[in-house]
Amino acid sequence: MKEINLGLIGFGTIGAGVAKILTDNREIIQKRLGATVCLTKIADLDIETDRGIHIDKGVLTTSVDDILENPDIDIVIELIGGYDPARAFILKALNNKKHVVTANKALLAKHADEIFTLVEEKGLSIGFEASIGGAIPIIRSIREAFVANRIHTIEGIVNGTANYILSKMSDENCDFDVALKEAQEQGFAEADPTFDIEGIDSAHKIAVLTRLAYGTPVKFEDINVSGITNITSEDIECAREFGYRIKLLAISKYDGEKIDIRVHPAMIPSGHPMASVNGVLNAIRVCDDMMDENILAGHGAGALPTGSAVVGDVIEIARNITSNSIGRLPASSFQNSEIKHIPLKDISTIESEYFLRFNVLDKPGVLSNISGILGNHSISIESMIQKGRGEQGKAVSLVMMCHRSLEGNIQKALQEIEKLDVVSGKSNLIRVEK
Ligand code: HSE
Repeated sequence: MKEINLGLIGFGTIGAGVAKILTDNREIIQKRLGATVCLTKIADLDIETDRGIHIDKGVLTTSVDDILENPDIDIVIELIGGYDPARAFILKALNNKKHVVTANKALLAKHADEIFTLVEEKGLSIGFEASIGGAIPIIRSIREAFVANRIHTIEGIVNGTANYILSKMSDENCDFDVALKEAQEQGFAEADPTFDIEGIDSAHKIAVLTRLAYGTPVKFEDINVSGITNITSEDIECAREFGYRIKLLAISKYDGEKIDIRVHPAMIPSGHPMASVNGVLNAIRVCDDMMDENILAGHGAGALPTGSAVVGDVIEIARNITSNSIGRLPASSFQNSEIKHIPLKDISTIESEYFLRFNVLDKPGVLSNISGILGNHSISIESMIQKGRGEQGKAVSLVMMCHRSLEGNIQKALQEIEKLDVVSGKSNLIRVEK
């Protein structure tokens, strides 16, 4: 029976999950593949810590070149994350004619052109299912299941940490800081949670998905990103009163000319299927001209869910190796020569419904001042709530839902409203996605 040799770089949480799956499910993998996959080498700076899995002597190494320069290794699995040295390791693996499997969305969001071009030049395969949505087979769905369809929308909850925090704030009426601390204590959030809570991780993921869906490179820096740190328990409570839940959404919509790509907290109707995707779960909605709509949901992170996506890619590549059909599936879903630049929409040109929250002094005339400015910018108010009754000189929250309006008009109106003497601090804007 043919043996496929793997080299794993990075023996952290996901790496340990991969090793466990390859060990525990060795038999079923062999039955399905008709070959054996062998974890031949594992490189990590720490080869002492017990990961709770039996690893044969001689497999662990601190030298990455024991994998990258090893002529026996067929597939390199990169699980160290970040830009460098992950980029250098992947390029070296490809140059040394090794297929690659990675979970590194940050790297692919920035360097997909370089990496995918080399994959094609060398006649190799790259798998990156684990980079987005953990166990959710979103990349396989776009590259294979929906291959004949014109996708026009991809949007979803692609960050488990942010979703855990927002769910906790919604279900337990707690503040952002309390929910973040709890997420860290539970091991869901990193000690430095910046990428997750500021929307950067979601932006990496939507950049990669946009490339696959529409065949365009996306400059990650051009994506309009805002995270969840400004969301207050009051916003969540108002959302509930208006019949919505707040989720951090990554959105990419293509109208045939331009792509509207953004990451921000959004209110979605509480009856929408994605409104009940809570905790660390992820959900991604794909819409196209043939199957209409499909929502894929599941565990977006964790050793075994993400590990299973990694092993799925490994087996896919092993199948290509055993059947001599390398280069069957273009990395970007489109042929490399068909990757064309599609312009991005300026956020000021999008239209949406909006939730606005202002801190205002509770005195006569304030509402007419604010609604006057909104009206001057063609923004019409659908409903409004004032939270509480302000004591002398104290601010209260005034929240309103606005009908569909142009973002540029909303931004101009907010700037004017924030200059009013009766308005204090920064106002909050949350887009409504239906
Ligand atoms: N940090 C990510 C999340 C998991 O919280 O969803 C890996 O993509």
